[in-house]
Amino acid sequence: MNNNKKLRWGILGAARINQQLMPAIVAAENSELVAIASRRPGAAAETLAKYSPQQQGVTIYDGPEALLDDADIQAVYIPLSNHEHAEWTLRAIERGKHVLCEKPMALTVADIDAIETAAKKHNVVVMEGFMYRYHPQHARVRELLDSGLIGEVRSVRSCFSFMMQPARLYRLAEPIERGGGAMWDIGCYAIHAARLPLDDSPLAVTAMAKYTDTGADISSSGIIDYGDGKYAQFDFSFERARRAEYEIIGTKGGLKCHNVWAKQAETPVVSWWTESGRQCIETLQTSNHFLLEIEHFEDCVLNGKTPQLSLEDAKTNCRVIVAALQSAADGMRVQLD
Ligand SMILES: NC(=O)c1ccc[n+]([C@@H]2O[C@H](COP(=O)([O-])OP(=O)(O)OC[C@H]3O[C@@H](n4cnc5c(N)ncnc54)[C@H](OP(=O)(O)O)[C@@H]3O)[C@@H](O)[C@H]2O)c1
Repeated sequence: MNNNKKLRWGILGAARINQQLMPAIVAAENSELVAIASRRPGAAAETLAKYSPQQQGVTIYDGPEALLDDADIQAVYIPLSNHEHAEWTLRAIERGKHVLCEKPMALTVADIDAIETAAKKHNVVVMEGFMYRYHPQHARVRELLDSGLIGEVRSVRSCFSFMMQPARLYRLAEPIERGGGAMWDIGCYAIHAARLPLDDSPLAVTAMAKYTDTGADISSSGIIDYGDGKYAQFDFSFERARRAEYEIIGTKGGLKCHNVWAKQAETPVVSWWTESGRQCIETLQTSNHFLLEIEHFEDCVLNGKTPQLSLEDAKTNCRVIVAALQSAADGMRVQLD
């Protein structure tokens, strides 16, 4: 049993993203990596050797089911493919595990409803892995907004893009219904970031998209209508130069977060201006948002804190994504209930 107050983690798959998350779990003071699973023989051990070679005593399981049977594991990190997230999140909850699930948590709002019900029943913490939100630059943005510096927020523009390497184009091979394409991969960030400064009651979405021959979306732009002339624009693509930014315009000025995916070595920059002529470019301290995400999760589990990103937030994001996909496919504005 766990006698040392550290959160005991299992990782449910040998995914590439473990390059970031595995060292974060190992480095977090109140976490301990105790197991990793993969359905592919040798892949879990290889992943461990590659991303956390110093870590001793990690149990290798030959699949997620076997890992969930380990009663000593308290929390699981789910880096499986997008269409598997909801199923394995539910299975983990039913075994009494706390769950950090990669984005997107699910492909339907109904699945997140089921996850929420199960999480309440089993009294576990469940969080969607939008790691960028734990970077202090967004708390700084919030602080600037709350100070009234740019007045009332009227519009947001978020842009996420990069040139997808040919070797990774397998992400486009899966149909959208199975979590393939740019929307479920990076569009979910663009929409999440665009929602950051506005209230959580979007009214409607209009979007357009370019599709590959396999039917996956590769580039998309859209507008979330919040009513009263408040709009959040999102734009993302696998075939444009790298950008990960958002800009917020208020009644008295504007501010911009220049590198939403700021890596540990990259200097985060937030700039702002006001109509009264003030302007500033703030360079903030570098941070590892993956580590901060893990530390926040362990704090929620071990100390009973409320997750910064709720399941309600996950549902709203999913609702907007599904509406945007429908809007792009049908060429129509989609009302949100
Ligand atoms: N937060 C972030 O910054 C970030 C960044 C990238 C991706 N993500 C998210 O993280 C999740 C995983 O993304 P990823 O790009 O790391 O996925 P990935 O490498 O394709 O792995 C996903 C799952 O597919 C299986 N798999 C891996 N390589 C395989 C192969 N060669 N053949 C067959 N199966 C294979 C693995 O399960 P088994 O080990 O059981 O076979 C693995 O858990 C996605 O939901 C994605 O949206 C998050």
